[in-house]
Amino acid sequence: MTDASLAVVILAAGEGTRMKSATAKVLHPIAGVPMIGHVLSAVAALHPAHTVAVVRHERDAVAGAIAELSDGVVIVDQDAVPGTGRAVELALAALDSFDGDVVVVSGDVPLLDAETLTDLIDEHRQRERAASVLSALVDDPSGYGRIVRDEAGEFRRIVEHKDAAEDELGISEINSGTYVFRASALKTSLTKVGTKNSQGEKYLTDVIELLVNDSLTVGANPVYEAWVVAGVNDRAQLSDAQARLNAMIVRGHQLNGVSIDDPATTWIDRGVSIEPDAHILPGTFLKGATSIACCATIGPDTTLRDCEIGENATVTRTDATLAVIEANATVGPFSYLRPGTVLGDGGKIGAFVETKNAQIGRGSKVPHLSYIGDTTVGDNSNIGAGTITANYDGVAKHPTVIGSHVRTGSHNVFVAPVTIADGAYTAAGTVVRRNVPAGSLGMTVVQQRNVEGWVENNRSGTASAEAATHAKKESE
Ligand code: UD1
Ligand code: CA
Repeated sequence: MTDASLAVVILAAGEGTRMKSATAKVLHPIAGVPMIGHVLSAVAALHPAHTVAVVRHERDAVAGAIAELSDGVVIVDQDAVPGTGRAVELALAALDSFDGDVVVVSGDVPLLDAETLTDLIDEHRQRERAASVLSALVDDPSGYGRIVRDEAGEFRRIVEHKDAAEDELGISEINSGTYVFRASALKTSLTKVGTKNSQGEKYLTDVIELLVNDSLTVGANPVYEAWVVAGVNDRAQLSDAQARLNAMIVRGHQLNGVSIDDPATTWIDRGVSIEPDAHILPGTFLKGATSIACCATIGPDTTLRDCEIGENATVTRTDATLAVIEANATVGPFSYLRPGTVLGDGGKIGAFVETKNAQIGRGSKVPHLSYIGDTTVGDNSNIGAGTITANYDGVAKHPTVIGSHVRTGSHNVFVAPVTIADGAYTAAGTVVRRNVPAGSLGMTVVQQRNVEGWVENNRSGTASAEAATHAKKESE
């Protein structure tokens, strides 16, 4: 499987100043994965014998993320000499005696795919080139290095935008920053590259002209669609890449049998799985490792992070994190599910209900206006409207345990720790401070007292008083 004569160098030492961010550029997420994670996935599919990442800016954060995202990537620290040429030179030094082809990619091209890279490697090897550059034809080439060709159309060199002459600035074929080099030729020519240019950097791009002068074969191959190699340098390009990748992810699910009504307002992370015949309504965000089973309906206006949704479940206008919704259950509208929420088969969490660390059994319902935290509910129980589990005593959290076939009254407070056993009832307005045994009715209801004539005596002249007087006359 491993291609013994292939190594990959990922450049990720740059500052990314145009992002204007405290976070390293390559760590900004796209579809739930740091930008560099997409590059790592693409190059991993090439099965290279070695992968090296060059880091410097935000060194520890970038190196740490790479270690988390991918196995066996060698981290190389760039020194104070700036430039892509210096970065590659140090990477090659770490590769020691490696003598095959070296793919060089930037950590900031998240849409680059393995197929594009494979095509470039194949072309490079078939034509026995010393260097192959992936180029692109773009409407606006500003900022990019230009591919300079001679009258015969032969690729001669790359000139950086800041160093380009007037006529060179008009060239619309640009250097994408993705290359394949023969390691030995690259090593030799990099030793000859200086820093005499407008940026005072050691440019990787300078090796092309040196290889041509040594009569070695070089080539530049344009990609079919320029967006494949689009780099992310600022927040506007970041959102462009996010939109492009999302559109591809959404389409992939659609072609796999998932109904997605509005791709423009549906955002799906790369790690999400959705079974055919699920239905995703507009304004839905599916994040992290969320999984959705067949025939579930999600949305509109729903965000799920790392959630598991069972078959035929319905989740409407809901915000949920680390929640498990089992088959046939319904959630929403306007529900807030926090980590540790588990709703059993056929259960319900309804309007304006917040849950946290709450295991709610099969067929059990929390239909209206409630907070259920650190609680277990058995099967087929019903929690009355406006129920609060008072789980926090100001210092520590305590559990509430509610059994099966329990009916709790409206507007209850369960002062934890407290247990309501199977088949128990509680009365409306009860503050439950003591355990309720199986089959008992728990109540703390204070006897209601009506003070006759109070409104007419104390609020005379008001509409209420007049209405009361009128009503009394009517009933005489
Ligand atoms: C580079 C190319 C340019 C090409 C463009 C494509 C050079 C000299 N120029 O320009 O021809 O059109 O990419 O996007 O290579 N990096 C390091 N160490 C450094 C400098 C950069 O690792 O010292 C990394 C950056 O983190 C980035 C990549 O190399 O991932 C490219 O660097 P960047 O500064 O974006 O190069 P450009 O000026 O865009
Ligand atoms: Ca760039």
